[in-house]
Amino acid sequence: MWDKIKSVFSSKSQTDTEEAGEKEDTEQHEKVSEGEEEEAEEEVDQPGMWEETFKTHADTKPNGPSSISLDFSLPGVEHVYGIPEHADGLRLKNTDGGDPYRLYNLDVFQYELFNPMALYGAVPVLLSHNTHRTMGLFWLNAAETWVDVSSGQVGVCTDVRWISESGIIDVFIMLGPRPNDVFTQYSSLTGTQAFPPLSSLAYHQCRWNYNDQEDVSAVDQGFDEHDIPYDFIWLDIEHTDGKRYFTWDNNKFPQPKDMLQGLLDKRRKMVTIVDPHIKVDSSYKIHTEIRSRGYYIKNKDGGDYEGWCWPGNAGYPDFTNPEMRKWWASMFAYDQYEGSMENLYTWNDMNEPSVFNGPEVTMHKDALHGPWEHRDIHNLYGFYQMATAEGQIQRSGGLERPFVLTRAFFAGSQRYGAVWTGDNAAEWGHLKMSIPMCLSLGLVGISFCGADVGGFFKTPSAELLVRWYQAGAYQPFFRAHAHLDTPRREPWLFGPDNTALIREAVRQRYTLLPYWYLQFYHAQRTGQPVMRPLWVEYPEDIATFSIDNEFLIGRDLLVHPVTDERSSGVTAYLPGNGEVWYDVHTFQRHDGAQNLSIPVTMSSIPVFQRGGSIICRKNRVRRSSSCMENDPYTLYVALDSQGKAEGEIYIDDGHTFKHKTDKQFIHRRLSFTANSLSSRSVPLTNIIIPTRPCSPCFCIWVVNIGDCYNVPDVLHPSSTDGGESSVEFEFDPDTAVLTLRKPGVNAGVNWTLHLR
Ligand code: NOJ
Repeated sequence: MWDKIKSVFSSKSQTDTEEAGEKEDTEQHEKVSEGEEEEAEEEVDQPGMWEETFKTHADTKPNGPSSISLDFSLPGVEHVYGIPEHADGLRLKNTDGGDPYRLYNLDVFQYELFNPMALYGAVPVLLSHNTHRTMGLFWLNAAETWVDVSSGQVGVCTDVRWISESGIIDVFIMLGPRPNDVFTQYSSLTGTQAFPPLSSLAYHQCRWNYNDQEDVSAVDQGFDEHDIPYDFIWLDIEHTDGKRYFTWDNNKFPQPKDMLQGLLDKRRKMVTIVDPHIKVDSSYKIHTEIRSRGYYIKNKDGGDYEGWCWPGNAGYPDFTNPEMRKWWASMFAYDQYEGSMENLYTWNDMNEPSVFNGPEVTMHKDALHGPWEHRDIHNLYGFYQMATAEGQIQRSGGLERPFVLTRAFFAGSQRYGAVWTGDNAAEWGHLKMSIPMCLSLGLVGISFCGADVGGFFKTPSAELLVRWYQAGAYQPFFRAHAHLDTPRREPWLFGPDNTALIREAVRQRYTLLPYWYLQFYHAQRTGQPVMRPLWVEYPEDIATFSIDNEFLIGRDLLVHPVTDERSSGVTAYLPGNGEVWYDVHTFQRHDGAQNLSIPVTMSSIPVFQRGGSIICRKNRVRRSSSCMENDPYTLYVALDSQGKAEGEIYIDDGHTFKHKTDKQFIHRRLSFTANSLSSRSVPLTNIIIPTRPCSPCFCIWVVNIGDCYNVPDVLHPSSTDGGESSVEFEFDPDTAVLTLRKPGVNAGVNWTLHLR
């Protein structure tokens, strides 16, 4: 499998000696073969190997050339995926004759689409897939890395070459054979997606910037006036006192606690930005403490590394130091972060790290983290999201789940929160690209991903904005965001018709929150992606292998957002021979394994529920997800061709760790078979009803029952308490939908409803 292993370790002084004429081989040079020995010596002579300049930047390269590389041949493989982050299709391209995919976390200005250039995050994990096997390759190296993908020489084969600038070769091969096996194998190495607070799966309203407290309050009220739910409002860098994070601009935000309390009263939340560049200012506590404790990254000469970013001259905390991380976490305590409250969460941005006057707008590679060069750990810097998340947990005494959004990331970042795809643009191409970008992240464990709804740069047309809301409502992290220089674009600024369309998209998100929450519960336990390419569930269906304009949420919802301007129709592929799919809006039934032409209007969001599934929703949408806490669930039972369906419901308090520590949750298996719908506890889980029990009523919708059964005369629910009564129902012969109302059954106990 390996056709080449090359590793050259040396030292600068060694080469100086060689250059002086003593060309003897030493133990410091490890070479695999004679040929490579020659190659390595040739390389030593190349200019730039011991010192390099990039524009005006010098890289002193004290360790000289230390790159490592391995080639892998994947016989029988035509489709490879993964290695985010790139603004490219889901399926990786052949890079022969072009640039390889580059993994090097960078703050890129206006990134290009269909380009293997490096972006903000890097996960060196590649998946290969054919009808027999899915496999994963995890190249555990956080230095600058390049990946070349080419078709092998003999038969069907894909060759993959990895090259990293420094570090060691540490490769994990995950053998599958099913996609789900690879996800489990990979998550056993790097962990699973953190289980987010339920409210963070709802809608987030952001822009650079909400100007002051009055602005926040007006936007907050705007949502109520237009009857659009939202859970989080975000403050970007302008809310601070001169870009000093953990502070507030006193003129614009004189009473942050009053503002937060106002939101709390409406059961809403806020996020403030906390970037890792710290203003060099002797009157700024965060700076003086980091400096006096020696926690800054050092430059090559041993002084504190300084670079230019939003606040002007800034230092960069060394998060590889556990003491630094501990100290950083302690800064989120309520008595440290003045003006903060329990409904304030965090956004970690610019953490590639961004250094405006650095090479490629990032840190010099010869900067130092203790004994390590920045070169070796560059792609890990964004991992400080970990310390922020820890800070949020600690401030609550270990009780509350954190929410932290990060722009830079690495393998394992899923353990600490959400990521987004950075500074996209208000263009149709960027809307389309949000799908493969999030799918690629999900494949490598990062399920909580989204793109700026509306596009960050430029100004979306009303049509693009509406379509983006409709797509974003079905992607895991759902946040609108916009650049400082763009006109305001709160959902009600585009006329009543567009407001109504956006309202409807956001409301659809809220009704489905129980399903999203269940998917994240599973992601946390198993590492399975929440937003999935079709081939993950239909690994033998070749037609699914290159699809990246539609996706699955979990197993049971298929979404094909409209991403073309003035679209009058889309063609969705409905997978699965023998499978049936129901349009969730009309309940129309379609067979699987077909391309379905769907006419669309501006209100269309093509979404299908898999026959054979039961999906739980909350149909009464209120102003925030927390306000819907005690509302009843509605079960959508979509029968398969045998008249059966299965599903799950998961309920906990939505924000603490008590589901783990005290086993306070309800997890039930729902099944419809032989004319009966029943709820049973999921085997092997310890079910304890939460202290504040959710005792929802179920409204039960049995979809298309008319195809398989006669309309029932009498309906008898029977629960564990033995009571029997009939249930109100309606049957619509046009859609063949049976609706049962108020069955009066409880989520936490066993019950069965018989249709007779
Ligand atoms: C860059 C981020 O990508 C963007 O979302 C943010 O608004 C700006 N930094 C300002 O903080």
